[in-house]
Amino acid sequence: MRPIAHRGCPAQYPENTLEAFRNSAPAVDMIETDVRRCGSGELVLFHDETLDRVTDATGVVAETPLSELREASVLGTGEQIPLLRELFEVVPSAVGLNLELKARDVAREVTEAAADHDHDVLVSSFHPSDLAAAAEAGAETALLLPSEETTPAEFDVGAALDVAAEHACSSVHPHVSLCLETDIVADAHARGFDVNAWTATSASEIERLRDRGVDGVVIDDCEHAALCRDA
Ligand code: G3P
Ligand code: MG
Repeated sequence: MRPIAHRGCPAQYPENTLEAFRNSAPAVDMIETDVRRCGSGELVLFHDETLDRVTDATGVVAETPLSELREASVLGTGEQIPLLRELFEVVPSAVGLNLELKARDVAREVTEAAADHDHDVLVSSFHPSDLAAAAEAGAETALLLPSEETTPAEFDVGAALDVAAEHACSSVHPHVSLCLETDIVADAHARGFDVNAWTATSASEIERLRDRGVDGVVIDDCEHAALCRDA
């Protein structure tokens, strides 16, 4: 199974920083990060809507200009919030990039930025229409499937796969609980999708995902990368 570093592996490194991307890259096949637009229009890599949880600043990212964002430090480090373009510079092109769209107006711009680089890029989102826009601009796309809105038992796997097919996705990224508690992995494979599960947090989860036949696993801990690769 392919190990995918979630936000650059926050178990070891400050999430979504160049330090995290640079240091987790040698351990994994792909890095997952979150793209949103800041107040002055640039694309930055940041998970939350607001600065408060992970930086020494406060405020809404989408309302904060880059000059102010760059003054914020990620807590416990001297690291700045990175720009999307810096990701391509610090991650070797042999390592893939899973760019999750956290804003609703960035699909085309993210796809066009990726096209200028050699990395294999997968654009992912919980919003099918954003994936359709990315696919139209030439991206390979993955539909994220949540666990919060319904329990796995109530989740309509067939309908979710229909949505992924209608929006030209090459893979689906179900929450770990969906992979373990529904038939989504086998059903997705039968329909030609790759399956990458998010986010495994223990060796036992990784083993159970392997038994299910998952193709890739999003991990928080770089030390789990070798477990994903083990036959
Ligand atoms: O790759 C899936 C995962 O990143 C989605 O959740 O909230 O960590 O961005 P989140
Ligand atoms: Mg994400």
